[in-house]
Amino acid sequence: MSDRPRLLPLLGQTGHGGRSAMTCQYRCGNACDHPVPNDSDNPYFGDVVRTEVSRRGVVRAGAVGALVLGFAGATAAGATPALAAGAAGGAAPDTDALKPARFSGALTFKPIPPNKLDTLVVPNGYDHAVVIRWGDPVVPGAPDFDLDNQTAAAQSKQFGYNNDFVAVLPVDKRGRRALLVVNHEYTNENLMFPGFTTMDALSVEQLRVAIAAHGLSVVEIERVGNSGEWMPVSKGPRPYNRRITALSTRFEFTGPAAGSAWLKTAADPRGKVAIGTLNNCAGGVTPWGTVLSGEENFNQYFVGGDSVPEALKPKLARYGISTTARYPSDSRKWDRADERFDLAKHPNEAHRFGWIVEVDPFDPEAKPRKHTALGRFKHEGANVIVAKDGHVVAYMGDDERFDYLYKFVSDKKYMPGNSWVARKHNLTLLESGSLYVAKLDYTSAAEIDGMGKLPTDGAFNGTGRWIKLVRGNKSYVDGMTAADVLTFTRLAGDAVGATKMDRPEDVEPSLLTGKVYVALTNNTNRGTGTNPKADEANPRNANKHGHILEVVEDRGDNAAETFTWSLPIVCGDPTDASTYFAGYDKTKVSPISCPDNVAFDGAGNLWISTDGNALGSNDGLFATAIEGPERGHLKQFLTVPLGAETCGPFITADNRSVFVAVQHPGEITGASVENPASTWPDGDYAKPGVVCTWRLDGRAVGS
Ligand code: FEO
Ligand code: CA
Ligand code: CA
Repeated sequence: MSDRPRLLPLLGQTGHGGRSAMTCQYRCGNACDHPVPNDSDNPYFGDVVRTEVSRRGVVRAGAVGALVLGFAGATAAGATPALAAGAAGGAAPDTDALKPARFSGALTFKPIPPNKLDTLVVPNGYDHAVVIRWGDPVVPGAPDFDLDNQTAAAQSKQFGYNNDFVAVLPVDKRGRRALLVVNHEYTNENLMFPGFTTMDALSVEQLRVAIAAHGLSVVEIERVGNSGEWMPVSKGPRPYNRRITALSTRFEFTGPAAGSAWLKTAADPRGKVAIGTLNNCAGGVTPWGTVLSGEENFNQYFVGGDSVPEALKPKLARYGISTTARYPSDSRKWDRADERFDLAKHPNEAHRFGWIVEVDPFDPEAKPRKHTALGRFKHEGANVIVAKDGHVVAYMGDDERFDYLYKFVSDKKYMPGNSWVARKHNLTLLESGSLYVAKLDYTSAAEIDGMGKLPTDGAFNGTGRWIKLVRGNKSYVDGMTAADVLTFTRLAGDAVGATKMDRPEDVEPSLLTGKVYVALTNNTNRGTGTNPKADEANPRNANKHGHILEVVEDRGDNAAETFTWSLPIVCGDPTDASTYFAGYDKTKVSPISCPDNVAFDGAGNLWISTDGNALGSNDGLFATAIEGPERGHLKQFLTVPLGAETCGPFITADNRSVFVAVQHPGEITGASVENPASTWPDGDYAKPGVVCTWRLDGRAVGS
């Protein structure tokens, strides 16, 4: 690549908050430029509706990886790696391996400063390495990456583009091997194909490369020496290694909307099997060792929304699909490669995306599933906790300005232990249950000035209720069947007066406390024009920097229908009076903007990654205690290279490694392969990649 000319991309040209216009184009189909999809009037009539509502009311045997002990037991000597290539029989997976080892986790690292460097920056005493990058082999036998001769067949065996969610699941007794499971959210054809000019000029094969670069990867990794560094296993059969793509992987629908009229197409007249998964953003690891992944901005891949039956148009428009133009702005026009993306021909195809998918990384032959019981919206992700009485609860956000917060409670109870019977049972838990949407009430509503001024009771806080939308096949929303509610969940949320939030992204319970943390990224439309004004849960108009919401379920029961909430962190530069860090001394905290994903270490510290820093620094990863006197003492742990977003993050169960996904490095308007805005990670052109960070002395990260 050294012979490619280097020009200067338009650094600093954003126009979309902290994001590059190029990110907006490719990531979410210029969502910011379109009208807010939620134009429902529910904030004004919600109380009326609410009254009405309350009145109404794996591993299969035969493909076994032994998931045994945890990284916590990693130093136990003498155990042999249990991984056997597609071995039959073997031990049932040990779900204890997924639980973080506890440690006394004072966060002692020295925070790094905000910066605009084209490199990954970590604190003194830490190191980092690229684990895997776009184009690296995943499936054994994958061809070497050839930038100038990309094919869909090769990409279907190689690591996909724009890694987002990251999970690391232990797979052997000594903590030496693990499965890295990664989402590939979206593609940027400008930065993938040399000589790119326009979408229309791409060949059909290039479109198919892009489709194949979406999806997920499962990659077996191994520890480097006795350190916290991990690298892909490069030899041997690697039976778990797998690409799941938007091009060809078959997904089975489960739950009440599977087989409904909304999901039937010419190619799938039963409405039971979808091809591929799209725009997989964040996700979560279940207590039974599978991975959940959220289909987010799926709307942007479809064309022809102007030609669907009139009655369907409002249902498409509520999901951000253009119903006035054949091609939305900057459309990828994938209909050139596959006519199913043309809604004029296949109006139901878009309904087959926008779900939570469950992938069993321990069973490479298991068909991934789309769980309709968890509803359909722009799913950021889903994170599961086992409630006191054994039901499992999945918390979920709908990442759009003025959209909602949801949870699912399973009908069946979690079966503890590591037997095959338990495994088989737990794999069905997300197929039936109740879906709820959040409605928040306030303690200081009259004091909210839209400027972020803390109310006189000392907190942005209140109570809330989970409004039941559906249980199994029974709908709780007037005029909508259960299949309607699950397929058009946003409309159900509108009907019951759910609270309009500032882009609910990752929603994750702390497994130590059961408290739930919601990243609300930003919402510059809050309080503008006819849009809803600030409220106590979204207390700033033109909210550029976002905030964190904490939900405490009543009685400590994650299956409860009522809760209290507060905002522990209101983001921004700490010198800005509208920021809040749980009352901690603001001279000691790091500036943070646009929280996107959250994670916990074994001490229960809250780690927060950012997307679209509007303070002028690169995006990064931060950590703070969330209980005790250090609550709110937020410190910056790393920054990612120019133009990139910090995705993941994931702290391994032994607390010795922090993984982040460096998504869209160099995605700055004007950049191209030949004219990169970032040369991370290899010094030539920008490539998304997953990074592992560890402490040089081998101790727990952060402590
Ligand atoms: Fe893909 Fe909500 O960010
Ligand atoms: Ca208050
Ligand atoms: Ca995200």
